[in-house]
Amino acid sequence: MDSFTFPYQQYLHSELPDEMQELVTAAGNATQRAYAPYSDLKVGAAVLMADGTILTGANQENAAFPVGICAERAILSNIHLSDETKIKAVAVTYSADNKQTDKPIAPCGMCRQAILEMQHRQHSPIAVYMCSPKGLVIMVENAEFLLPFAFGNDDLPAYKPQV
Ligand code: THU
Repeated sequence: MDSFTFPYQQYLHSELPDEMQELVTAAGNATQRAYAPYSDLKVGAAVLMADGTILTGANQENAAFPVGICAERAILSNIHLSDETKIKAVAVTYSADNKQTDKPIAPCGMCRQAILEMQHRQHSPIAVYMCSPKGLVIMVENAEFLLPFAFGNDDLPAYKPQV
C-alpha cells in the first residue's frame, strides 16, 4: 500500500513570526465584515502577497444558498497574479457567537481547489494558516498538502496556459 503524508506545524498565535501574526489578526478582523445570517459562522480570510501587502475578505451568504461565497474565494477572485505579485500565504479564521472553540477552521474543498490553482499559476507555494478564535494555528507550507490527488489543468486536454 502506498501512503501520502505531509508536514504541518502547530502554533499559538503569539509564537508566529510578526508578519504572520499580522496576517492572522487581519483575518480575525475581517470576520466582522462577514454576512452570515444563515450559518452564523463568520469566516475571515487574509492573503499575504510577496510584497507584504495584506488583502482581506469574509464570507457573504445569500438566501439562495449556493450563491454565497467563502471568505477565501472572495479575496482570490480579486487578485491579479504576475511575476511581481505572488501570494505567499493565506490565513483563515472564524467567529461564531455559539462557537468560540480552539478548533482551527480549514478551507473547504472548493477553496482548496481555488488556492491550489493560484499556486500552480504563480509557480510558487502558498502557505495556508488555519486558525481558531482562541489563537491556535495549524500551518502547511504548501497548498498541495491539503488536496492530494487534485484535479488540475493537466487533466484537461484543451488547456492552454495563459500569459
Ligand atoms: N466558509 C468559508 O467562508 N470558508 C471556508 O473555507 C469554509 C466555509 C463559509 C461559507 C458559509 O458562509 C459558512 O462558512 C458556512 O459554511
